[in-house]
Amino acid sequence: MKLSAVVLAAGLGTRMKSNIPKVLHRILGKPMLQYVIDTIKSINPEKLIIVAGKNINEIKEAIPKHNDIIFAKQAEPKGTGNAALKALPSLKGFKGTVLIANGDTPLITKSTILNFIALHKKRKNQVSVLSFESKEPSSYGRILRDEKGRVTSIIEQRDASEEQKKIKEVNSGIYAIENNALNLLKKIPVNKSKGEYYLTDIVEIARNKGFQTDAICIGFEDELTGVNTQEELNLVATTMRYRIIKKFLESGVTFIDSNSTFISPNVQIGRGTVIYPNVIIEGYTTIGEGCNIYPNVRIINSEIGDKATIKDSTLIEGSIIKSNAVIGPFAHIRPGSVVCENAKIGNFVEVKKSIIGQGTKASHLSYLGDAKIGNNVNIGAGTITCNYDGKNKYITTIEDNVFIGSDTQLVAPVTVGKGAFVGAGSTITVNVPPDSLALSRVEQKNIEGWAIKRRLKEKKTKKK
Ligand code: UD1
Ligand code: CA
Repeated sequence: MKLSAVVLAAGLGTRMKSNIPKVLHRILGKPMLQYVIDTIKSINPEKLIIVAGKNINEIKEAIPKHNDIIFAKQAEPKGTGNAALKALPSLKGFKGTVLIANGDTPLITKSTILNFIALHKKRKNQVSVLSFESKEPSSYGRILRDEKGRVTSIIEQRDASEEQKKIKEVNSGIYAIENNALNLLKKIPVNKSKGEYYLTDIVEIARNKGFQTDAICIGFEDELTGVNTQEELNLVATTMRYRIIKKFLESGVTFIDSNSTFISPNVQIGRGTVIYPNVIIEGYTTIGEGCNIYPNVRIINSEIGDKATIKDSTLIEGSIIKSNAVIGPFAHIRPGSVVCENAKIGNFVEVKKSIIGQGTKASHLSYLGDAKIGNNVNIGAGTITCNYDGKNKYITTIEDNVFIGSDTQLVAPVTVGKGAFVGAGSTITVNVPPDSLALSRVEQKNIEGWAIKRRLKEKKTKKK
């Protein structure tokens, strides 16, 4: 199948009442336009052209890895017909079917697109539009048919008569056009009531010129809702959220309260994992099998191994947590960290760009930044790696089987050798050799009877 695709994304989106381009509004952390792109890419078009407007650079920035996408610019938002026209130069010489889709229809699925194209081909159409029955058709163009049921044209709400407004079959904004009918785009006249060029007019033009034209009514409202307002965005986000949850329910993930769980579309979760309420999992996160993700956890672009436990109110960003590790409650794992098997990062511990070895424990109140920590290390409560001198960052290395006493500061760059002990309350500024004890605190002095003398003194001053 020879197929290319055009996505229209240059509209102003005024009805969103927002400063960002409409197609960049996010659903579960991913821009609306990216959903449309990902779905279209999954059918492997020969060319994929995005028509963007004056905010084209903002759109390019928000869409990562776009080397295989051609951007066409529509400098002025003169309507969907004019936008589609801007893609024509990039389609020069292409022979086959061109799929045109709106960038504001993120729920569209691969199977509906494939069914639509298959029918378009089977019926030997040159212009097809994908239509659906809408319960609330007022924000869509209506499909007009003649007495024989053949599609004649599409009429927008603002131009429709009261009779036409009653029609429930609407235009999804998805079209299939054979390359030999593409030049019809140039024949679209300006719509008088709005002063824009309507892509919908291609249906009437094609039919009048004798091209095989059809509206293929195979769509569903929960796939083809267009987003024009914040309310529609909210509606679409709810549908998408449940679609994702359902996929995980089917693959054996348990949700204690799926209504309060937000999972981005590119996340993977293994079977037997239990997700507690108020959990947010974003980006390209992978979670293994048999994990417990407790309430109020947020995980972004991270990899969590099998049987890991992420306790309440923990934030994990851009990091790897290996199997059987336990993180939290109230932990913050910042980007670039690796927490190895069976390690434990406990209450109020912040880890940044550090490796925490197997079986190592940092159970309470610590900052571990730019640290390389070996296996079976004990990090006492209140340990801090002083990794920053105001200008540069330095590395702290703690080798296997080290014991760091509570309230230790490790002034980097510094290394604590294998099996060494650091006494509580130490400030370590020079390397500690393996198997030794490092103590840097002032030696304790006890003055006997001091407290009795002090109390006597206090009594005397009160009497005066
Ligand atoms: C459009 C259709 C309507 C259909 C509905 C489906 C027209 C005239 N109407 O209406 O029949 O039922 O989609 O959701 O086509 N865009 C541009 N350049 C422009 C204007 C729009 O690129 O100058 C892009 C927008 O970014 C958007 C898409 O085209 O992604 C659709 O535009 P929008 O204004 O949302 O059209 P609707 O009023 O929804
Ligand atoms: Ca729309």
